Amino acid sequence: MTDTSTILVLNGPNLNLLGLREPEIYGSDTLDDIAGMLEDRARELGLEIDLRQSNHEGHLVDWLHEAQATGAKAVLLNAGAFTHTSIALHDAIKGIRTPVIEVHLSNPHTREEFRHKSYVGMAAKGTIAGFGATSYLLALEAAARL
Ligand code: DQA
Repeated sequence: MTDTSTILVLNGPNLNLLGLREPEIYGSDTLDDIAGMLEDRARELGLEIDLRQSNHEGHLVDWLHEAQATGAKAVLLNAGAFTHTSIALHDAIKGIRTPVIEVHLSNPHTREEFRHKSYVGMAAKGTIAGFGATSYLLALEAAARL
């Protein structure tokens, strides 16, 4: 049961491999480690974390709709590579009133040109990128203040 104290943390493709995947770019923390960090801080803030990951674009769209339907306080969204391709995610973010904060471990603007465009960022409330796992914590701080 989601409500105004819940922060949905949605993770897209390949983020299930965090910790193993290109650690020189994404760091050694796993998604479970990040979930633990977020839960500890959320408890202090009086918030709850509901962290999910999917390799399927439609799941992320459905979860964005669910965030609105269940009254989540905010969504932290690391859409992985869908960030740079997905008009469906762009439209889903535009289609809900729940604030969505774009999150990235790396800074896509310092990387390949194809990562410079973000369909998520064009619809999101704001973006936090480039701080590794700390990006998620900073996004949680921002969400708590909304
Ligand atoms: C990422 C950046 C994306 O460009 C990439 O496709 C990812 C991870 C990040 O968190 O740095 O999968 O979203």
